[in-house]
Amino acid sequence: MSEQVSYRDGALHVEQVPFARIAKEVGTPAFVYSSAGMTARYRALETALEGLPVSIYYAIKANSNLAVIKLFGDLGAGVDVVSGGELARGLRAGVPADKIVFAGVGKTEEEIAFALESGIHQFNVESEPELRLLNRVAASKGVVAPAAIRVNPDVDAKTHAKITTGRKENKFGIDIARATEMFELAATLDNVSLTSMSVHIGSQLMDVTPYRDAYARLRGATLALRQAGHVVDHLDLGGGIGVSYDGSAPPDIADYADIVKETVGDLDCRLSIEPGRYLVGNEGYFLTKVLFVKHGAERRFVIVDGAMNDLIRPTLYEAHHDIVTVAEAAAGEAGSLADIVGPICESGDYLARGRIFGDVGEGALIVLKSAGAYGAVMSSNYNSRPLAPEVMVEGDSFRTVRRRQTFDEMLALEEGLA
Ligand code: LLP
Repeated sequence: MSEQVSYRDGALHVEQVPFARIAKEVGTPAFVYSSAGMTARYRALETALEGLPVSIYYAIKANSNLAVIKLFGDLGAGVDVVSGGELARGLRAGVPADKIVFAGVGKTEEEIAFALESGIHQFNVESEPELRLLNRVAASKGVVAPAAIRVNPDVDAKTHAKITTGRKENKFGIDIARATEMFELAATLDNVSLTSMSVHIGSQLMDVTPYRDAYARLRGATLALRQAGHVVDHLDLGGGIGVSYDGSAPPDIADYADIVKETVGDLDCRLSIEPGRYLVGNEGYFLTKVLFVKHGAERRFVIVDGAMNDLIRPTLYEAHHDIVTVAEAAAGEAGSLADIVGPICESGDYLARGRIFGDVGEGALIVLKSAGAYGAVMSSNYNSRPLAPEVMVEGDSFRTVRRRQTFDEMLALEEGLA
């Protein structure tokens, strides 16, 4: 995958746009996305999966900006949503309802009703009570809900504990040993049609081997269900393909495609996958400006205007994001240890710790790479900091796809002074 950022005449560009121009026009901090990068990712995945009956449902939780959803929708993707809000986004971005899958352990009656009224493609059901609720709501509307059960294959995805989902102890899915029981139950319910299973074992998988185990179990369950007389005509293989945050080798999607082919390719099932991070993770950047440099007793603090409320991944998962300066460092410059920290009143507010970093001064622009997934979507107003803008770069131009929140907008929902 070719990188969309490069130095030209000493200044960092994304596609053909200098980051400094974006900072000047929209201010900092800001999230910056490369449309060429996102498009190339989608095409690469499509190519790797060529010949397999696979549809791609972009998991919009990774980056649910309407322009990003539209980009993938225009390329032919469906979307995976996990809330009524995400469903509203998918529809608003122009994704046809019959290309929307609704996942998640805690769907409310209202959300189910909204999705049924919209006519979505499939509900990925995560528990027996949810299946019964889905049946009830569908009955009240006189429709039959298309359903899959999400099975929990008890496979270790070997990723960060907070984003592992396919172990028995995780809240997700239904024990795969209970799949037949669930299909039997569904056969007694008039308003659900269950002919599908889904699985998702975790996020940021850097090794694709756990997929082989999970999909082999899915295959076993499919064969057992068919043996018992049930129809299984669709398998949703989840998301989770990891990306590199530090230049290390990412998983090879050709290997992933081979695993899909070998485990479930011959089952005569329609297949789908739900990638989020793979499509957007490396194609977004967090642009921030140095406010002060402070030399503490033990280390150098580079205090920037972006913070944990904007990009919480370093704080929440100890995630590493490569950081570069917008002005190219002089050849041979060694750099020294630094913590890159934000203005929030918590010691946990850092974007990087103990990083070898060049000599930067006040006003310098820096870029955190790989901030396209789980960046802006996880940001908050903590410390009453307005949400940062999002920018989409397209060749030699860019457009603001979410402008910076104003103080008035931030306060607009509050009525405590009445
Ligand atoms: N499908 C399901 C059912 C999921 O739960 C997820 C992610 C995906 C698909 C997409 O996974 P991806 O391809 O993006 O790995 N905030 C965390 C990641 C949480 C992932 C949650 N579920 C992070 O910043 O690393």
